[in-house]
Amino acid sequence: MIIRKSRLEIERMRVAGQIVARVLKRLSEIVEPGITTLDLDHEAERMIVGAGAYPTFKGYNGYPRSICASINDEVVHGIPSKRKLREGDIVGIDCGATYMGYVGDAAVTLPIGSVSDAVKRLLDTTRQSLYRAIDKCQVGNRLGDVCYAVQSYVEPLGYSVVKNYCGHGVGRAMHEEPQVPNYGKPGTGPVLREGLVIAIEPMINLGHEDVKVLSDGWTVITMDGQPSAHFEHTVAVTRDGPQILTMLDNGAAAEEVA
Ligand code: MF3
Ligand code: CO
Repeated sequence: MIIRKSRLEIERMRVAGQIVARVLKRLSEIVEPGITTLDLDHEAERMIVGAGAYPTFKGYNGYPRSICASINDEVVHGIPSKRKLREGDIVGIDCGATYMGYVGDAAVTLPIGSVSDAVKRLLDTTRQSLYRAIDKCQVGNRLGDVCYAVQSYVEPLGYSVVKNYCGHGVGRAMHEEPQVPNYGKPGTGPVLREGLVIAIEPMINLGHEDVKVLSDGWTVITMDGQPSAHFEHTVAVTRDGPQILTMLDNGAAAEEVA
């Protein structure tokens, strides 16, 4: 069942989303060669708890940390560790915060120092595919329009869409209906109505789409060892168009809305 949110619920989700947005901004400012993904996790957790929120991922199905940090060929769900980031790496950082019972969920993939042109293009394309999908989050469109926006943008450029994982409805629970795949057919699926809130999260590979899970039970890697990128936003469908709840807005501060 798809749970639509009231305007008040969306404002609460925006507070959660702003906390996540601030964490991702801060982590993007401090990543550099030599920092560990555990350092990033600690900073994220400190900020989330300091904002009066809970790190949604921690304890979710036994997940041990507050963020996911996925390096190079790791697609998603990398577990922060003492591994140091190195010049030329990319790291996908996925973060969730629960505030007053509502979840914000977002991710970015960051380059460490300078990366190859091919990897730079992978990051740009993946980010762009997310914004194209968000543009389709209009009342009256169908979910398939959103899903197709990602696929139809990245595949002609030679990238592949990870099919085993998808975006999702989000609200009081991190994962609600509907599932939001990064592929599909335009004009199909549920009609988007006011109050729908979804996390859209394209996972795009430079090489082949096939992935597998490492023996830690979490880390998803590409089968061919080529890099993968991941960007995510929590988006509300409103009468006034899509609202990106995890986009940093310098307007209403979290404290004011709360
Ligand atoms: N953004 C991811 C998702 O929506 C984060 C989940 S990681 C987990 O699935 F550890 F919490 F599972
Ligand atoms: Co998500």
